[in-house]
Amino acid sequence: MEKIRVELGENSYDIRLGYDILTDCVERLRETAYEREVFVVSDRNVYEIHGGGLETVLKNNGFAVAKYIIPAGESSKSWDMANEILKVMLKKNYSRKTCVLALGGGVVGDLTGFVAAVYRRGVPFIQIPTSLLAQVDSSVGGKVAVNHPLGKNMIGSFYQPKAVWAELGMLESLPEGEWLAGLAEVLKYAVIWDKEFFDFLEKNSERVFRREREVLPKMIAVCCEIKGEVVKRDEKDENLRNILNFGHTFGHALETATGYKKYRHGEAVAVGMVGAMHLACGLGLFSLEELQRVEKLLKKWHLPMSFSGHLKEEVLHLIEHDKKVIGNQVTFVLPTEIGNVVLKKGIQQKLLEEALEKIAE
Ligand SMILES: NC(=O)c1ccc[n+]([C@@H]2O[C@H](COP(=O)([O-])OP(=O)(O)OC[C@H]3O[C@@H](n4cnc5c(N)ncnc54)[C@H](O)[C@@H]3O)[C@@H](O)[C@H]2O)c1
Ligand SMILES: [Zn+2]
Repeated sequence: MEKIRVELGENSYDIRLGYDILTDCVERLRETAYEREVFVVSDRNVYEIHGGGLETVLKNNGFAVAKYIIPAGESSKSWDMANEILKVMLKKNYSRKTCVLALGGGVVGDLTGFVAAVYRRGVPFIQIPTSLLAQVDSSVGGKVAVNHPLGKNMIGSFYQPKAVWAELGMLESLPEGEWLAGLAEVLKYAVIWDKEFFDFLEKNSERVFRREREVLPKMIAVCCEIKGEVVKRDEKDENLRNILNFGHTFGHALETATGYKKYRHGEAVAVGMVGAMHLACGLGLFSLEELQRVEKLLKKWHLPMSFSGHLKEEVLHLIEHDKKVIGNQVTFVLPTEIGNVVLKKGIQQKLLEEALEKIAE
C-alpha cells in the first residue's frame, strides 16, 4: 500500500492506495474517536458491485453501517439530493463524530463531501473513490459541491476529507469509456507538471490501456502527488490551482455547446488539451513535435482530438465568456514544453480562432 500525505496544516490527510487495502484502512479507522456507526453514501452502480465488500470489512471491524444509495449520474449531484441525505442524517440524530464514507465516482464524492461539510457545521468524511477520475482528481483537494440549475458546481465549499482510500481493484469494473475519459486527466498531469511521467505513460501506454496491475499504482500515485502538491501550495484556488485547468477552458465550452450530452468530461478535456496546445504553438510557446507526441497518446487511448466544425462559433463565444474570466480576460493554461505550463491572458481573438480551426472538422 502506498501512502501520500497531503500537507494542509491541521487539515492534512493521507491518501492510501493499492490493491486490497480496505481491511488495513478500516482497521486504522477503528483507532479513531468516531462513532461506531458509519454512514455510507454510494450510487446504485457502484454499490451493487463494491458495497457488499466494504460493508463486510466495516462490520468485521465492529462498525454498524447505515447507507444512502443515490441513482448514478450527474443529476444526483443536486441540492435536493443533498437535502434528502441530510434529512436522513438528522432523523438518525447523528453526532458531529459520525464518519461519512463516500463510495463512488466524482458525483458521489462531491455530493457527500458537501453534505459532510454542512451537517452540524461539519462531520468527518472519507473518500473511497471508485472511478479513475475520482482517484486521480476529484477525491483529492477538498472541493465539494452540488450543481445548481444556473451553474455546475456553483454551490459548494472547500472541505478536506480525513482520508482517501483508493482501492485500485475497484477500477477493474469501471466501464471502458469512463476509464479512457479518466486517462485524459492523467495525461493532463504529465503535460502540466512532469516530463518523466509523460515518458512513463508513453512507454506503458498499452499496459495502462489494459489496466495492468503492475503499472496502475505508480500511475495513480504520481497523479495524486501532483494534485496534492498543487493543492498544498494553493488550497483555495487563488492562483497555482489554475494550472489544473489545462484543456478545461476549451473543454468546458465544448461540454456546454453540446449540452453535456455528447462528451464525457475527460473526453471534452482531451479535445481541449489539443486546442490549448495548438494555441501555444500559434504563440510560439510550444513545438509541433511535442504536440504530436501528446496526440499520439490520446489516439492510443481512443480519446477524441477534434470536434464538429458547426459548433465553432458557439465554442468561441463560450470560451470568451468563460466563468473563470478574471478582470474581463480569459486565462489560458498553455504548455511551453511537456511538463511545464504558463498562464496567459489577453490572447488575440485571431489566434484563438486559428487554434479552434485546427481542432474543428
Ligand atoms: N471535486 C473536484 O475537485 C472535482 C474534480 C473533477 C471532477 N469533479 C466532479 O466529478 C464528477 C465526475 O466524476 P466521475 O467521472 O467519477 O463520474 P461519476 O461519479 O458519475 O461516475 C461515472 C460512472 O461510473 C460509474 N462507476 C464509478 N465507479 C465505478 C466502478 N468502480 N465500477 C463500475 N462503475 C463505476 C458510476 O456509477 C457512474 O455511472 C463531476 O460531477 C465533476 O464535477 C470534481
Ligand atoms: Zn477535469
